[in-house]
Amino acid sequence: MFRRFIVAIDGPAGSGKSTSAKLVAQKLGFLYIDTGAMYRAITFLAMEKNILNSQNEVSKLAETCVMKLRFVEGKTQIHVDDKDLTKEIRSPEVNAKVSEISKIQGVRQALVQKQREMAAENAGVVMEGRDIGTVVFPNADVKIYLIASLDERSKRRAKEFAEQGKNITVEAVKENLVQRDIIDSTREFAPLTKASDAIEVDTSNITIEEQVEIIVQLINEKLKNYN
Ligand code: DC
Repeated sequence: MFRRFIVAIDGPAGSGKSTSAKLVAQKLGFLYIDTGAMYRAITFLAMEKNILNSQNEVSKLAETCVMKLRFVEGKTQIHVDDKDLTKEIRSPEVNAKVSEISKIQGVRQALVQKQREMAAENAGVVMEGRDIGTVVFPNADVKIYLIASLDERSKRRAKEFAEQGKNITVEAVKENLVQRDIIDSTREFAPLTKASDAIEVDTSNITIEEQVEIIVQLINEKLKNYN
């Protein structure tokens, strides 16, 4: 009987999730799903519609919107109700608010449902986020929990901003990461935490190629016994 193979990659911002998840999915021909982009899109729209302070309205927005993720030329493109928000979701303003929006139970329920529906479209899926191995797919075939030092994570994110032409200091990035780590890991619903059966990989001092290699090896081990 055919069934899906799910790889869950969780961890804090800047731990290397997106970079390695994308490459692993490409290598294996799996569908790549960046769930952070979905929380970011709802945050951007809530800011645009000026409903940040209404949990009900933000939850309704998350439930009713049509969200489409596509992975093109190494980048996640996100469209919500046919509006392209790919660039908008990566702004410092969204960074500052996204953890608050991600705390809302109604938002989480709506997006988790969408994530499960998206995964149903493919035989092999690599999904990255904060609660994939704990809540979205507690029975995932492979669960990886990535960590890295705060200094390293801050440097990586500052470099990404610089590549987008945004000049944000490592210190400012660090402050945002510390805030987001606290909110993401202490929230009531689906906090960022390592699943008991996840394999922890510290990416502070290894190359991207090494990260990918470790994860692909773990997947291949599992695939050997897969039917
Ligand atoms: O991975 P990222 O930095 O793009 O995620 C942005 C925020 O979205 C993160 O600070 C917390 C939230 N998030 C979440 O709560 N659950 C997920 N599965 C993914 C992201």
